[in-house]
Amino acid sequence: MPPIPDVSGSVVEGDDNDYKLKFSIGTTQSGAQYRGLEYFEKIVEARSDGHIQVELFHSAQLGDDLQAVSALQSGTLEMTAPSTSPLVNMFPQFAVFDLPFLFPTPEIADEVLDGEIGDSMLDVASSNGLVAIGWAENGYRQLTNSQTAVDSPDDLSGLKVRTMQNPIHLDIWRTLGANPTPMSFAELFTALEQGVVDGQENPWITIQSSRFNEVQGYASETNHVYTPFITLVSERFWNKLPENYQQLLVDAAQQMGVYEREVSRTLNDQIKQELIDDGMQITELTPEQVATFQQSLSPVYDEWREQIGGDLIDAIRARS
Ligand code: PAF
Repeated sequence: MPPIPDVSGSVVEGDDNDYKLKFSIGTTQSGAQYRGLEYFEKIVEARSDGHIQVELFHSAQLGDDLQAVSALQSGTLEMTAPSTSPLVNMFPQFAVFDLPFLFPTPEIADEVLDGEIGDSMLDVASSNGLVAIGWAENGYRQLTNSQTAVDSPDDLSGLKVRTMQNPIHLDIWRTLGANPTPMSFAELFTALEQGVVDGQENPWITIQSSRFNEVQGYASETNHVYTPFITLVSERFWNKLPENYQQLLVDAAQQMGVYEREVSRTLNDQIKQELIDDGMQITELTPEQVATFQQSLSPVYDEWREQIGGDLIDAIRARS
C-alpha cells in the first residue's frame, strides 16, 4: 500500500474560530477510500494548525451514501464522498458514469474527471445544499455471486443481482438477463449471506474489505462500469468557513483524490490475487468474452443516449 505522503504546505490563516468536521463514507476502514480520508484529515488538521478538527466515520456508520448526502443538506454532517451512481436523480449528468464500458482505462477516467467534464460536473453538483470539491475513485466494478462461474451473459439468466439505487445499473443487468434488485450497501452483506440476492458488483477492494468473498464463491473480472467518488461538503458548513479554509478543503480534496486513486490502483491486482488465494473462483474474461458483454449491452446506450447527451458520450469515447 503506498504510504500516506508527508503533509506539506504552510499553515493557512483562518479566523479566530475552531471548526469540527465529520467526514463519513459507506466503505469500510480497510478500503482505499478510508486511507484517502486519513490523508485528508492529516492535511486539513496540519495546515489549519488544528483549527479544523476532522473526525472520520466508515462503513455507513452515519448512514449510507444517500442518507449521508441528505445529512449534508440538513447540516447534520459536514462531508461525505459517495459513488456518483445513487445521486443521478439529483444530478442526471452523473448518469454518464453508469454507462457500461465507457471508460476503458483508468487514465481516460482521470482525463475526464480532472478535465473540463469533471469540473463542469463539480459545478453542477454544487447546488441543493452541497458543495462539490473533488474526485476520487471507487473504481472498476466486478461481478460476484454464490451460484456459478460467469463468462457470458447466458450464465446470468435469472441470477438475482444487487445493484446500487440507479436506473442504468438496473437496465444493464436486466438487459443481460439477470434479475436485478436495487438495495442499500448497508444491507448487502446480510442479503448475500441469507440468499436474498445471489450476487453483487463492486471493485475488488470493496469485495475484500466488505468480506463478500466469505459468502460469494464466484467472481468475474467484468470491469463493466467505472465508478467515481465525488467529495461533497455541506453548504451550511461551507458558508461558515473563512475563504482560506474553503480553499484548504479544496486543495486537500484534490491531494486526497490523487493519493486515493494511487492506493486503489496499486491494491487492485494484489487484492484480486488474495481473493483467489482465499478460495474465490475468479473468471478472467478474454477480449472476445468482453466483446460479447459489450454487444449485449448496446441497447442500454440506445435507451440512454439522448437523455445523457450524445455529444458527451462521444467526447469520452473519442479518448479511447
Ligand atoms: O455498491 C455500492 O453501493 C457502492 O459501490 C459503495 C460501496 C457504497 C461505495 O459508494
